[in-house]
Amino acid sequence: MAATPIGTLPPLSAATTILVVVASFLASMEAMNPDVEALMALRNGLQDPNGELNSWDPDLVDACTWSRVVCDDLTRRVIRLELQMNNFHGAIPEEFGDLKNLISLDLFKNNISGPIPASLGKLKSLVFLRLDHNRLTGPVPNELLALDKLADANFSNNKLCGIIPTSGSFENMSPSIFANNSCLKWPGRMSGNGR
Ligand SMILES: *[C@@H]1O[C@H](CO)[C@@H](O)[C@H](O)[C@H]1NC(C)=O
Ligand SMILES: *[C@@H]1O[C@H](CO)[C@@H](O)[C@H](O)[C@H]1NC(C)=O
Ligand SMILES: *[C@@H]1O[C@H](CO)[C@@H](O)[C@H](O)[C@H]1NC(C)=O
Repeated sequence: MAATPIGTLPPLSAATTILVVVASFLASMEAMNPDVEALMALRNGLQDPNGELNSWDPDLVDACTWSRVVCDDLTRRVIRLELQMNNFHGAIPEEFGDLKNLISLDLFKNNISGPIPASLGKLKSLVFLRLDHNRLTGPVPNELLALDKLADANFSNNKLCGIIPTSGSFENMSPSIFANNSCLKWPGRMSGNGR
């Protein structure tokens, strides 16, 4: 068999360019719905002993028919997540910050662990954030102070630690929303640094 002379090879660079264009087009189609990606990030890290999330099918174009998910009729973006009281085990994924239209996030009374992601500070429409009765650790991130619409939040009965936020969106909230955590402290009660 004669070796193929170099000069008769197809123009590789053109073929490569087409492949790259096709691949990035496919990748962008997959990335089209950030809500689906965020919810699948939760789903993949979660134990769901009661099979509550079996309807969460990542091949659908949006998440609007999934159980415990409510979308806006017009935008088809997720506006409410009703994940309370299901003994879910796992962590809140960083990707939840991409649920840009979310108004209500309810994780009340599960077995959610790990930190509250700072990325939740990107949820500028959030009004309702119920995280109480879980096993969350770490601080209440400062990023949440900038959630201008937040009206009803609850972090009680977790294992949170750090300084309790009292300004920004938390200025007028009841102290009860931080009750019964491992080591949350009110500001100014620590020994004097001249503050
Ligand atoms: C929560 O998870 C921990 C650790 O996996 C487990 O020991 C505990 O029993 C769970 N609590 C409930 C109510 O299922
Ligand atoms: C405090 O929270 C723990 C879970 O972190 C819970 O088991 C306990 O019952 C709570 N105590 C009160 C007084 O609510
Ligand atoms: C926060 O949750 C705790 C425990 O469920 C409850 O006792 C408290 O009243 C709640 N606070 C607010 C302001 O809803």
